[in-house]
Amino acid sequence: MSEKKQQVSRRQFLNYTLTGVGGFMAAGMLAPMVRFAIDPVLQPSAQGEFAAVAQVDDITTEPTRVEWTIDQVDGWYESKVTKTAWVYKQEDGSILALSPVCKHLGCVVNWEGNEQFPNEFYCPCHGGRYYKDGVNVPNTPPAAALDVFQHKIEEGTLYLGKAEPRKEA
Ligand code: FES
Repeated sequence: MSEKKQQVSRRQFLNYTLTGVGGFMAAGMLAPMVRFAIDPVLQPSAQGEFAAVAQVDDITTEPTRVEWTIDQVDGWYESKVTKTAWVYKQEDGSILALSPVCKHLGCVVNWEGNEQFPNEFYCPCHGGRYYKDGVNVPNTPPAAALDVFQHKIEEGTLYLGKAEPRKEA
């Protein structure tokens, strides 16, 4: 009787041992897979980095459209996104880089996009208008100025970062 009991407990011991070893091996295999699966979430976003967009010498007082591409990571989805800015030299020689995204409903504005409104940015969707410095013309649909890109200049090259709402209106 006690021998029988002992046989059962041996089998149990074997079961526990195999289950334990199996579980340990499974955890060992799963850990890298889980880490791989959540890794993109832990990656720092590409937003906020600066990209070279133009040579400063080529920038005039006339707003010019510049384009560049960034790697964007949204969770597990990585994609290339094209960004655009209107760039020009202000009267004091400093550079202003404006977002082309209309602050009304997000259409794309164009410099002198309507011949009736020279020297202004114009949004074709609902007739939104902005002065050259990006401030919205009162009594047109946009209720805020165009966002301004962070920028820096290194060795004659203009780098743009992310667009932020304009501080002064
Ligand atoms: S989206 Fe630009 S005016 Fe409406």
